[in-house]
Amino acid sequence: DATSLTDRHARTFRSLRVSLTPACNFACVYCRPADHRTFQHGSDLLSLGEIARTVGVAAQLGFRKVRLTGGEPLVRPHVPDLVADLKSIPGIEQVALTTNGSLLPKHAARLKSAGLDRVNVSLDSLDREATAKLAGRDVLDEVLAGLDAAAAAELPVKLNVVPVRGVNDHETLDLASYGAERGWEVRFIEYMPMGRVASSLPDATVPSAELRERLAERFDLHLDPAVPASDPARGWVCRRTGARVGFISSLTEHFCAACDRMRLTAEGQLRPCLHQDAGVNLRDPLRDGADDAALAALFKNAANQKWAGHEMTAATPRFSDRDMISLGG
Ligand code: GTP
Ligand code: 5AD
Ligand code: SF4
Repeated sequence: DATSLTDRHARTFRSLRVSLTPACNFACVYCRPADHRTFQHGSDLLSLGEIARTVGVAAQLGFRKVRLTGGEPLVRPHVPDLVADLKSIPGIEQVALTTNGSLLPKHAARLKSAGLDRVNVSLDSLDREATAKLAGRDVLDEVLAGLDAAAAAELPVKLNVVPVRGVNDHETLDLASYGAERGWEVRFIEYMPMGRVASSLPDATVPSAELRERLAERFDLHLDPAVPASDPARGWVCRRTGARVGFISSLTEHFCAACDRMRLTAEGQLRPCLHQDAGVNLRDPLRDGADDAALAALFKNAANQKWAGHEMTAATPRFSDRDMISLGG
């Protein structure tokens, strides 16, 4: 239809992932390189107004979902105001947030009343020491308090787990059970070695099939065919309890064929794919007074650059040279 943006591989864009900042108050080993610095002039980042303007153009092109990411998006001030602005854009049906959870005690209630639809929160471990090892400091209580705040605010939650071989991969059953008790889907994400962390953390990916085998001990899992193919996660349901778990298997079960995502970096680069170093700069045109038609043309340019997908596997796991922390996942 007239309001759809399609790429050269007949995929339609519906979802825009917007990184609000490359800064983060955690230092997760699989995301943040040891020498990651975020000294930046405020003006290097898109303003919240510029982001809302961009989402307005995306909505005219058929985008329906916005996900705010980082770094840690909530280190940026005024995120609830941005959520309210995005929710008021005709065509935008869903605004979601991916967060490490630590700042939810401060912001969950206000995010909910601004119209935020849901949150995905990283919870890699239920063990204080393993968590500290993964996140760079002792953050488990902060994250758990954040989850309590999300629940109190009645924000739907999904838990994101990145199993790192030898650190937290033995907690698969405990994490799935924790989520099941609270009614939260737990998604196990295959670690993607990206950017500068790739060399400091090699061979750490745990294949989803291995995790599913471990879960079979306690969960009678069946693939849920109702989960849209455009979701990164394949959804599984426990037949006995209804508990949900998901697997995001970038290395062992690519999901590029049904991808509906485009990304906007905090600096205003529109990227057609997480792993493809391509795209267009929106920040300069935004500041040079480009009209909506000119911005829409730049979206089309980025769409046309989108490749069929990456070809990384567990045997050849070399992803983007850019760091995960500055791409927002
Ligand atoms: P839902 O809307 O709840 O399905 O969110 P989501 O899973 O798309 O977003 P989230 O930010 O929670 O990301 C979870 C994991 O999926 C992260 O590790 C992301 O890097 C990864 N992910 C999201 N989109 C893509 C993608 O297009 N390609 C790859 N390889 N990974 C992705
Ligand atoms: N591989 C896979 N997932 C990652 N995340 C961060 N770094 C990586 C990586 N290298 C996840 C975080 C968060 C989401 C945005 O991306 O755990 O849940
Ligand atoms: Fe920060 Fe999230 Fe990366 Fe951890 S995974 S360092 S919380 S951006």
